[in-house]
Amino acid sequence: MKLTDGLEKASARFFYSAIAGFFFTNAWYSLVSKLDKNADATLLNYGFADLNGDKIELEPQLEVDRFPLQLYHHVVSRAPLRAKDVLEIGCGRGGGASYVARNLHPRRFVGLDVNKRAIAFDQRFYKEQKNLQFIVSDAHAMPFREGVFDVALNVESSHHYNDMGRFLGEVHRVLKPGGSFLMACFPRKNEPSSLRESLSQSRFECMLEEDITPNVIRALELDSARREEAVLRLCPAPLRTFGREFAGTRGSKLYESFASGKRRYLNFVLKKEI
Ligand SMILES: C[S@@+](CC[C@H](N)C(=O)[O-])C[C@H]1O[C@@H](n2cnc3c(N)ncnc32)[C@H](O)[C@@H]1O
Repeated sequence: MKLTDGLEKASARFFYSAIAGFFFTNAWYSLVSKLDKNADATLLNYGFADLNGDKIELEPQLEVDRFPLQLYHHVVSRAPLRAKDVLEIGCGRGGGASYVARNLHPRRFVGLDVNKRAIAFDQRFYKEQKNLQFIVSDAHAMPFREGVFDVALNVESSHHYNDMGRFLGEVHRVLKPGGSFLMACFPRKNEPSSLRESLSQSRFECMLEEDITPNVIRALELDSARREEAVLRLCPAPLRTFGREFAGTRGSKLYESFASGKRRYLNFVLKKEI
């Protein structure tokens, strides 16, 4: 085995270790914001592709982010958003929030993320969008009164949270009675059962649990060249293994875990009782 192979393996192991959880939430996302000088990476999810090849309509400048935007589109298609108050928890660099706020016409869309650098970027980059605002906050303790949002949205962020029960309790608290919680996620440590346990202990009614793993795999395949190019362009050489895992390029452990069926990507529609 070459030394570089060993380093790659150690680096991939580190990627999935507990310490990496801290590294990602606190340093990695800040680094992404720092490296992405041209605001190319405003969407940080694995994407969604329709298995029959159907595509959503997109403005030409958004074509580059087709698959990550299609994931947002799929998730939000489960609840009406027009004239509603919408909260996104874990909005990252705001590409999904901006797309939803422009195209689905909520009255107000609040994007929240624990990463200060990402939110500082969002507050500058999307400042012309009047129905869109961003705040720094932790998903486990959100600075809102009870019952203020019609819809809550969470796309590929909850695998970072250390207390799923507390997070679900917070979302339930800030939703209006009858409000919807739309959540796309891949369960942490490949354990859908512990996620389901947290959901069954929550006060939400589960209206839909949908396995969208095949759609995510297809999106990663169709988008792999763009993702590889972004890793090479944005990541300094020592960070490229992390970059590829994060981006889910073909050959990454992350991609393989979806492709082998070890990891599932799930989409939930949850309802707060009236
Ligand atoms: C994979 S990114 C997804 C971002 C965005 N939803 C998207 O699809 O582009 C995960 C995001 O979750 C955020 N996050 C992680 N832990 C969080 C927490 N405890 N509270 C709020 N946001 C958190 C990260 O800072 C990061 O921006």
